[in-house]
Amino acid sequence: MAVIQTAGLSKRYQDKWAVDHLNLRVEQGDIYGFIGSNGEGKSTALKLVCGLASPAQGKVRISDCPVQDTVARRRVGVLIEQAGLYPDLSGRKNLILYAGLLGLDSPERQVTVGCWAGPL
Ligand SMILES: Nc1ncnc2c1ncn2[C@@H]1O[C@H](COP(=O)(O)OP(=O)(O)O)[C@@H](O)[C@H]1O
Ligand SMILES: [Mg+2]
Repeated sequence: MAVIQTAGLSKRYQDKWAVDHLNLRVEQGDIYGFIGSNGEGKSTALKLVCGLASPAQGKVRISDCPVQDTVARRRVGVLIEQAGLYPDLSGRKNLILYAGLLGLDSPERQVTVGCWAGPL
């Protein structure tokens, strides 16, 4: 099943098309690389795909739901441009924080077990 599907997806900023008729199909389990020069529309395409920007034309479906649906939005996690880490926390503390946000059991123990045992 396609987890991401776009059809004719397009976005315009002023007089320029940032994304122009993007037809994309990403299957469940795929790792998909999105490569292009600066300014070619990668970030804009990702914002459209996850519903953070609205298209001028075209459609996005996430697991066969329109991206605007709550059901679709619950299935999407996205980091665009920035890593989303807290610079004032150590790597280990960032991992524990995110493990907690993801609802993992015993985040401290899981991060300790999964990490190199030296000081972080
Ligand atoms: N918020 C915005 N307002 C106006 N133009 C934008 C905006 N965001 C992106 N653009 C323009 O859209 C084009 C694609 O940008 P972007 O999606 O950021 O490209 P990429 O991520 O591939 O570097 C560029 O010409 C950029 O200047
Ligand atoms: Mg970008």
